[in-house]
Amino acid sequence: MSQEHLLHQAIQRHIKTVGTPDIVIANAGVSTGTLSGEREDLVTFKRVMDINLYGVMHTFLPFMQAFKKRKSGQLVGIASVAGIRGLPGSGAYSTSKAALMNYLESLRIEMLPFNIQVTTIAPGYIKTPMTHSNPYAMPFILEVDKAVSLFMKAIDRKEKFIIIPWQMNIVGKLMRLLPAFVWDFLAKRGPKKLRAMI
Ligand SMILES: NC(=O)c1ccc[n+]([C@@H]2O[C@H](COP(=O)([O-])OP(=O)(O)OC[C@H]3O[C@@H](n4cnc5c(N)ncnc54)[C@H](OP(=O)(O)O)[C@@H]3O)[C@@H](O)[C@H]2O)c1
Repeated sequence: MSQEHLLHQAIQRHIKTVGTPDIVIANAGVSTGTLSGEREDLVTFKRVMDINLYGVMHTFLPFMQAFKKRKSGQLVGIASVAGIRGLPGSGAYSTSKAALMNYLESLRIEMLPFNIQVTTIAPGYIKTPMTHSNPYAMPFILEVDKAVSLFMKAIDRKEKFIIIPWQMNIVGKLMRLLPAFVWDFLAKRGPKKLRAMI
């Protein structure tokens, strides 16, 4: 039986025994350095997409059916500032979070008739095992407690899309506006995640 099928069954069992929750947060994700032009990194690329994009879809789907029936609920996806522009050395992660943000945006609009809210949270850096071994400076990095409290506020306010913290919101907005040649100039000098297979 596939992992997706097992997850679907576990969620359905949960709904049957505990009831339909008000909020579902799809937080699981992985990050590793990859080189987008290297054939041997394709397996890692697919695995990152599988967890960071399809993992969220498979998590939401069974809850969505219950939310639609009830005509209420909130789905929360954890994206990343890394999804705003293509990051050299982190192509897989960056692509997965960009795809996730677009998926969540499509979903948000599709869910409007069912009174289901979709919240996208795009954090900057947070002190977790994911960033523990990053060999570069991480501006505006948040302690986990602070990040959680900002996440909770955003979820409570039913934000549609939010970049956390506010300093990263400014960075993220600027990143979006930069023309390709400026982005290339800055990004090629930027920090690179350590390349590793997962
Ligand atoms: N830390 C940051 O700076 C940062 C910044 C932006 C966005 N984010 C996003 O925030 C989310 C949480 O990341 P984190 O910083 O807490 O990273 P983390 O410390 O590495 O934790 C990752 C979490 O994802 C779970 N996970 C990974 N692969 C999974 C799989 N195949 N199936 C089920 N669960 C899986 C892990 O479960 P196990 O412990 O059981 O392996 C763990 O709970 C991720 O989506 C990440 O992309 C993090």
